[in-house]
Amino acid sequence: MKIVTVIGARPQFVKAAVVSRALARAGIDDVLVHTGQHYDPNMSDVFFAELGIAKPAYNLGVGSGLHGAQTARMLEGIERILVAENPDWAVVYGDTNSTLAGALAAAKLHIPVAHVEAGLRSWNRQMPEELNRILTDHSATLLFAPTAAAVSNLCAEGINGTRVRLVGDVMYDAVLLFSELTEATSDVLQRLGLSSGGYVLATIHRAENTDSPARLQAILSGLLKVAHRLPVVLPLHPRTRHVVEQNHELNESGAELFLIDPVGYLDMLMLEKHARVIATDSGGVQKEAFFHRVPCVTLRDETEWVEIVELGCNRLAPPHSADAVAAAIEAALDLCIDTTESPYGDGHSAEYIAAELAVSCECPV
Ligand code: UD1
Ligand code: UDP
Repeated sequence: MKIVTVIGARPQFVKAAVVSRALARAGIDDVLVHTGQHYDPNMSDVFFAELGIAKPAYNLGVGSGLHGAQTARMLEGIERILVAENPDWAVVYGDTNSTLAGALAAAKLHIPVAHVEAGLRSWNRQMPEELNRILTDHSATLLFAPTAAAVSNLCAEGINGTRVRLVGDVMYDAVLLFSELTEATSDVLQRLGLSSGGYVLATIHRAENTDSPARLQAILSGLLKVAHRLPVVLPLHPRTRHVVEQNHELNESGAELFLIDPVGYLDMLMLEKHARVIATDSGGVQKEAFFHRVPCVTLRDETEWVEIVELGCNRLAPPHSADAVAAAIEAALDLCIDTTESPYGDGHSAEYIAAELAVSCECPV
């Protein structure tokens, strides 16, 4: 049995790291295709090296660009590979342009598509990710939903029955799998001079924030306010760095705001685990905050990961002003997260996915 896995962006490397291991254990031949959507060493290579992901059989090297051009370059390359490899399944992850290109290329060739992290919805069609998710779900044959809410979303769109499997979230598997290695190898706290529980960790990369001068200004000024009280560490996604460097002055006497390059996954887990609060617009980082039981403030108007908000572990803070951002973070500083709820599965999602794919190959869905 052969699978072609299409990945290309940072969070997909983390997800594929656990699923590809499970596929290998199930005896499934997994041909990795890297679209090249992310290409800086600290956005791509570091994940392959740290997480033991095999070198991709193909790297399309599409690079950055407008959505249409970037997706089109991926489609063309993936189609060529699928024709040559003729796999039993194409596997795609999440909601990036690489996800959509993989799903569309395969579905048009009548190769069944398995979508890992299916059924998430923000209900905000302005987000490129929302379009990618919806189109991918509707072209998929097997939909691996991480949460009960995701299953409900799919049902509401008429996708149900034998095509949908509730398997939990592979990112939870990844945190469990790599926690020990993180503790053994990461020295990021020492390198940055941080103490456990003594700083705020922030990430920003969502287009709705980086492409809106007002929202980005509110976030950065809000973080600066907090940085007068305790250090704020901001590993900057390259998309954000481009905008920040052009438009923003972030040196303020008395404020400890540390802008650093993106870090590898193991350093990131370490930074998350020991943060007092995490402020982010990332989907993955919101959940990782929860897995580490660290209070989270989500700098968006809505989230797909509604469970953590419902449990009171994550608060939405639409970045409409610096005061709103700073107040949300400061209110979270003394939150104690002690829930035993586990809305993202039992840490074996990747194994369930591999087992389903193995069975579905014998007995097509
Ligand atoms: C993409 C996904 C987003 C996901 C994020 C994970 C889409 C539409 N968006 O957003 O859902 O949350 O990845 O990080 O697929 N750049 C570099 N070096 C790199 C990669 C990007 O400099 O290695 C810069 C380029 O200027 C590029 C910009 O970042 O234009 C945006 O990159 P792109 O992959 O288009 O989107 P992301 O914002 O990374
Ligand atoms: N991440 C990382 N280094 C960083 C920032 C994020 O390793 O500097 C990891 C993070 O731990 C998570 C994933 O990247 O596993 C999330 O990716 P991102 O925030 O880029 O995308 P999203 O999850 O929002 O799609």
